[in-house]
Amino acid sequence: MRRKRTAILISGRGSNMRALVQRARSPSYPAEIALVLSNRPDAPGLAFAKENGIATAAVDHKIYAGREEFERSMQLLLELHRIEYICLAGFLRILTPWFVGHWRGRLLNIHPALLPAYRGLDTHARALADGVKIHGCTVHFVVPAMDEGPIIAQAAVPVLDSDTTETLAARVLEQEHIIYPAALERVAGEKLRVEGNRVFCGDDAFPSAPLRVPSAEGDSG
Ligand code: GAR
Repeated sequence: MRRKRTAILISGRGSNMRALVQRARSPSYPAEIALVLSNRPDAPGLAFAKENGIATAAVDHKIYAGREEFERSMQLLLELHRIEYICLAGFLRILTPWFVGHWRGRLLNIHPALLPAYRGLDTHARALADGVKIHGCTVHFVVPAMDEGPIIAQAAVPVLDSDTTETLAARVLEQEHIIYPAALERVAGEKLRVEGNRVFCGDDAFPSAPLRVPSAEGDSG
């Protein structure tokens, strides 16, 4: 199957972008990373992409009068690079219904919580403050409402007594780096069926690996 030309949109360090780039190095992976685009020209993730021979672009949202003008510039670049799928990876701009509608079914996001819990920002601090025992991350198709849309993959992690926001974020991030490449593999490989909010993988092996909850501290088994 032809590899799908995929863009990754970032705003910062880009660790999920690196995980996707690394997985897409395999010739059998159904997506190739054809563009890394940032709304911040100084995003640290851009340097990694350049060093790895990937086309990069910066569209600085601050110089545009409104969201749609900004998105139309991004859209031009995406068309120029013949992009078929987009992965948002720490891209911290809200997208308009126009952009989301154009990319419907081909636009993925990763969120650091088990949606629909903890939409929005500061997910790890809020999870700790609520005293939840399980936290995690979600890859989903993007719809106009923020942090909603059919869920493709989730991974859960335990919340430990010793956790701080930083240690919990690190445990979740490790899982993000596993489920995002796995989710893009299924989407680009056209292995999914979406019915309403439900995404069917047709692949029993898929959820079992990323969804495994690592054993808690002090748990011998
Ligand atoms: C990731 O934890 C991602 O889940 C989160 O931003 C971080 C980006 O890190 N995304 C959101 O909060 C979106 N709502 P990265 O730049 O190292 O991939």
